Amino acid sequence: MIRIAAVGDVHVDKDVLGRYRPALERLPDVADVLLVAGDLTRHGTVEEAKCMATEFGELGVPVVVVLGNHDHQSDQQEDVARVLADSGMTVLEGDGTVLELNGHRLGIAGAKGFGGGFAGACASSFGEREMKNFVGTTEAIAEKLGAALRGLECDALVALTHYAPVPETLVGEPLEIYPFLGSYLLGQAIDSAPTALALHGHAHHGAERGRTPGGVPVRNVAHPVIKQAYNVYQLLSDNVDAGLVAV
Ligand SMILES: [Fe+2]
Repeated sequence: MIRIAAVGDVHVDKDVLGRYRPALERLPDVADVLLVAGDLTRHGTVEEAKCMATEFGELGVPVVVVLGNHDHQSDQQEDVARVLADSGMTVLEGDGTVLELNGHRLGIAGAKGFGGGFAGACASSFGEREMKNFVGTTEAIAEKLGAALRGLECDALVALTHYAPVPETLVGEPLEIYPFLGSYLLGQAIDSAPTALALHGHAHHGAERGRTPGGVPVRNVAHPVIKQAYNVYQLLSDNVDAGLVAV
């Protein structure tokens, strides 16, 4: 069994320091790895990235993250990613990593993702150049995510994104903004590989649980949704949610 702790949208800045730390210090007792589903900072500055590295660094378990839209806000996303990588975290963007945990190989493919909407109500690559660029951005990210997922050799495979791959985990958000919260193309990418679990954030008012059309469990781990420092999910186990603990 592999125990995966996950959270998203932690939006760390100076005033957040210490808020997550007590629960994070207990991580090695309850999980084998921590995945963070983007929006690590409030405005994507290097200062905030340093705060994130302090709050989520040196936990005693590997930490794997993707960036979110907030981490792009100051156009310093490369510097933000470097600060986090320098602190020991693995930062994924259209690529993957394999971790050896409890004698099992956990494969994680990650990407920020992007918007576009879902079946029956999605943007299409037609008309203005700006619209083609918008849809093309999502297509390119989804293609990379799918290739990364299919390329990992492991015993259990996880997809980590910021944007949502399905609409079910957006329930609670205004319907009008669904196209800005995720894309069905991410769901297709997840279904193109033997993915065991898909984790995302971004939808603060959404719901925790969903499933891709191909049957992959999807969990929205945005902090305002799970309302604790992290949830713990179990892979190579009968029930992905069996490990849920109060932190
Ligand atoms: Fe976000």
